Amino acid sequence: MAGRVLLAVGGGAAAIKAPLIVRRLAEAGYRVRVLATERALAFTTELALATVSGRPVATETGWFAPSGRVLHLELAEWADLVLVAPATAADLARAAAGLAEDLLTAVLTAGPPRVVWAPAMNPRMWADPAVQANVGRLKARGHAFAGPASGAMAGVGEAPGPGRMLEPEELVEHVRYHLTDKDYAGRRVLVTAGPTREHLDPVRFLSNPSSGKMGYAVARAARDRGARVVLVSGPTALEDPFGVEVVRVESAEAMREAVLARYPSAEVVVMAAAVADWRPAERRDEKEAKLGEEKHLRLVRTPDILAELGARKGDRVLVGFAMETHAGPERAFEKLRRKNLDLICLNYPTDPETAFGAEENRLLLIDPSGRTEALGRAPKRVLADRLLDRVRRIMQ
Ligand code: CTP
Repeated sequence: MAGRVLLAVGGGAAAIKAPLIVRRLAEAGYRVRVLATERALAFTTELALATVSGRPVATETGWFAPSGRVLHLELAEWADLVLVAPATAADLARAAAGLAEDLLTAVLTAGPPRVVWAPAMNPRMWADPAVQANVGRLKARGHAFAGPASGAMAGVGEAPGPGRMLEPEELVEHVRYHLTDKDYAGRRVLVTAGPTREHLDPVRFLSNPSSGKMGYAVARAARDRGARVVLVSGPTALEDPFGVEVVRVESAEAMREAVLARYPSAEVVVMAAAVADWRPAERRDEKEAKLGEEKHLRLVRTPDILAELGARKGDRVLVGFAMETHAGPERAFEKLRRKNLDLICLNYPTDPETAFGAEENRLLLIDPSGRTEALGRAPKRVLADRLLDRVRRIMQ
């Protein structure tokens, strides 16, 4: 997964975020070098960028590498990917024209394997036909774009609109997408995530503390590996991942409908959602005032979506999750059998380090022959990739 990223910092106000982009890329395991345009250094400093990247910054004042090679050629060969962030309208125009009059455009003209632009400019400038024409020319040459997003603009009184640079974490996600091998190219993967809510009335519901992080990590990992991903998500606080079709639902019944509608075209299904097993027998349309000292709820079972999928599995790969507090492997294996799954992932929700909402998890994979594979404690994204490695072996 690791790779070499050249962060080229253009001269916009968003350049103040460049040191954070370097930090986030390094945390994600990338080797990072930084190039700063002359204008970028009006917003951020060479010292800040050198400090976080741990290497001298390439600037206009030195076109020769310490090795004695010409710097723009060395950088273009070194980088697996050049991320231009922030990219100004002027950066796009010079690159589209193929000018090699400054270090940034010289590097780009020297043919690095991948270029990702993260534009940042005023919405009126972003909408300008000349800017859009330059974007089109760069796309036609195989360059990719990350953003811009809509949001608040630099400058007092400027109206919000599309033109805001993506946040550093989002840029790292785009980098990861472009540097990941596409071993799931064209595969259709359906993932569910998060809890469901079973309403008693408009303001009260039964639910559970699932954060959705595990399922979202699987959806992102599958997307990065080239899959066409549909994510059916219960209510979560997580952003929609880019490049994934996200279907938001609330109840188990709504999740069932959304999943069944997309089941025919899915090749792999990963049911990571913590679907509520019970719902109130009645849902009131109006909020009920509290009366008396006791209240009895009558609950009825929700549909078992995964069991329904298992009953008409075809040649799909079906993966379920199980959450057990005791007799884990035996109970999980029984679920795998009952629901006709290819794999079940046992979670340990009572372990504080891997509980609901944690960044890390620990999974025990169990297959239909009862063979187990322990995926040790790791960030959910790492586990998602290991799970997809295993699913790929089943698909072959
Ligand atoms: N699941 C589902 N529909 C439900 C309940 C669960 O599709 N109504 C799926 C979950 O997404 C998960 C797996 O089935 O992949 C979990 O199975 P389940 O039998 O619900 O396990 P537990 O929640 O651990 O339930 P139990 O109380 O039976 O141990």
